[in-house]
Amino acid sequence: MTETEFNNSKLKVMLSAEQIKERIRQLGEQITNDYRGRDLLMIGVLKGACVFLSDLMRHIDLPMMVDFIAVTSYGAATKSSGEVRILKDSDASLRGRDVLIVEDIVDTGLTLSYLIDIFRRREAASVEIVAFLDKPERRIKHVDVKYVGFEIPNSFVVGYGLDYGERYRNLPFVGLVESLD
Ligand code: IMP
Ligand code: MG
Repeated sequence: MTETEFNNSKLKVMLSAEQIKERIRQLGEQITNDYRGRDLLMIGVLKGACVFLSDLMRHIDLPMMVDFIAVTSYGAATKSSGEVRILKDSDASLRGRDVLIVEDIVDTGLTLSYLIDIFRRREAASVEIVAFLDKPERRIKHVDVKYVGFEIPNSFVVGYGLDYGERYRNLPFVGLVESLD
């Protein structure tokens, strides 16, 4: 892995901007083929998915709509209970629509299994997930993730929307934090 510096923090490049760009082009093509003739509504999970969503949607060559939801998990102690709190709900009606949840990373799977449940209850025609990254080793709750950008090992990564204490979201690549400034 290449080492680099960003705002005085040492980072190892896990996925380069070029690798990400190519993979997103492929995902966009696949989603375009799968959703042709359907009523696609992409719902991005704030804040982490904002970079991924804005790149991905420009590779989807279909009429579609976009919306956002913001969630937070309850404190670490209760996290395994899978309780998720909605900070900002989606604005659109989901009834009869083909919802594609856009997430930055699937880790324990708790956030996404909660979101799938609530969106299904709102009578969406279909609910699928596209996740930029997947850390399968960390899974507590099984979720079917239809589209995955990259599977990564169990390590904490930042960049391309992903944060550490709200920082690093603006990195154009995915990096492993070696030391913080
Ligand atoms: P989970 O799947 O419910 O555990 O939650 C996934 C959420 O945890 C993601 O949306 C991220 O906000 C956060 N997260 C998990 N792993 C990482 C990481 O390696 N870097 C940054 N955020 C992470
Ligand atoms: Mg997140």
